[in-house]
Amino acid sequence: MCKIKIMLVFGTRPEAIKMCPLVKELKSRSDEFETIVCVTGQHREMLDQVLRVFNVVPDHDLSIMRPGQTLFDVTCDVLLKIKDVLESERPDGVLVHGDTTTSFAAALAAFYLQIPIGHVEAGLRTRDLYSPWPEEFNRQAVDVASRWYFAPTETSRQNLLDEAKPVEHIFVTGNTGIDALRTTVRDGYSHPELDWAAGSRLFLITAHRRENLGEPMHRMFRAIRRVMEEHPDTKAIYPIHMNPLVRKAAHEELDGFDRLRIIEPLEVVDFHNFMARSHLILTDSGGIQEEAPSLGKPVLVMRDNTERPEGVAAGTLRLVGTEETTIYREFSLLLDDRTAYESMSHASNPYGDGHASERIADVLAKEL
Ligand code: UD1
Ligand code: UDP
Repeated sequence: MCKIKIMLVFGTRPEAIKMCPLVKELKSRSDEFETIVCVTGQHREMLDQVLRVFNVVPDHDLSIMRPGQTLFDVTCDVLLKIKDVLESERPDGVLVHGDTTTSFAAALAAFYLQIPIGHVEAGLRTRDLYSPWPEEFNRQAVDVASRWYFAPTETSRQNLLDEAKPVEHIFVTGNTGIDALRTTVRDGYSHPELDWAAGSRLFLITAHRRENLGEPMHRMFRAIRRVMEEHPDTKAIYPIHMNPLVRKAAHEELDGFDRLRIIEPLEVVDFHNFMARSHLILTDSGGIQEEAPSLGKPVLVMRDNTERPEGVAAGTLRLVGTEETTIYREFSLLLDDRTAYESMSHASNPYGDGHASERIADVLAKEL
């Protein structure tokens, strides 16, 4: 039997976390699929961490990352470097994920070579091209070029239908991020940083969005520090993104406060287990908004809007924007009002049952 040749392209930490379960699934069906992994290396260390954890060895690595890379750098480097890989491999289909510039440029390249594209995590929308920026553009553009839409939820399916995408090419699969989460959270997990926080209410902090760099990020950190200074029974762990601009803002606002520890990015197994043991999460991340509802962990989302309304509807996520006074108020409320906290801390799984990769593989087997 002739195998279906699928190439998965990804380049950043969150894409890797959500594509590796699919790589594993396709590779486990080696009688049906020939699976090729191409990483762009848009992230380096943070991508390699994930590849190590999932034991995925790329067939191609475009190694594009450079310090302080601009959107022009990432787009042009991926587009030019992936051309030869696509031409030499000639896959039957290319899979890209979500909304990064890796995904946009890889989809554009596949489109130029007329190779059909499957969009994993299709149909998320804020309808504001500048928030998140440039991700809202990237995801809409990938959806313009795609043949198959793997929508994580009914809401994302509806978003695609609203744009007149063909109904027969939209498949609600759940989010592959939940597939990953099923394999990482363990009973009996321990870590020295968690030992340090034992006996305190533990917060987990992350921040990296391009539109929040600069003053918004300073405001976020100032609000967090003020609230924590007023609540001595709290500690925070902040595994910081490798972007030097994020590091500069964080150190300027948070250094010298010893109940908040800034540490290097955690491996995904550690991060998921830290989430499962935290009291509350403060973030502007996308993926964390999907993982937290499954774990029943309240999240204050430090953004003005979200493409993940399912978690807001489920009650686990609250949008608090990036103004210092609003974050201060909402964060304080959750610490001082037990009922408000408990109303947010119940588990639900709006993003699927952890079997999204199997569904995507089934669709590809049928369609190709
Ligand atoms: C990228 C994605 C964003 C995604 C985020 C996940 C785009 C435009 N942005 O944003 O959608 O939410 O990843 O984290 O696609 N760096 C390192 N080592 C690493 C990773 C980053 O040193 O392993 C530093 C480099 O200096 C790099 C900078 O961080 O230039 C920014 O990385 P980049 O991928 O351009 O942007 P992110 O903000 O990470
Ligand atoms: N994550 C991780 N280590 C960390 C911080 C986050 O493994 O130190 C994981 C987290 O569980 C989620 C993903 O990284 O799966 C989110 O990535 P990020 O916030 O960088 O990107 P986004 O989801 O906003 O695109």
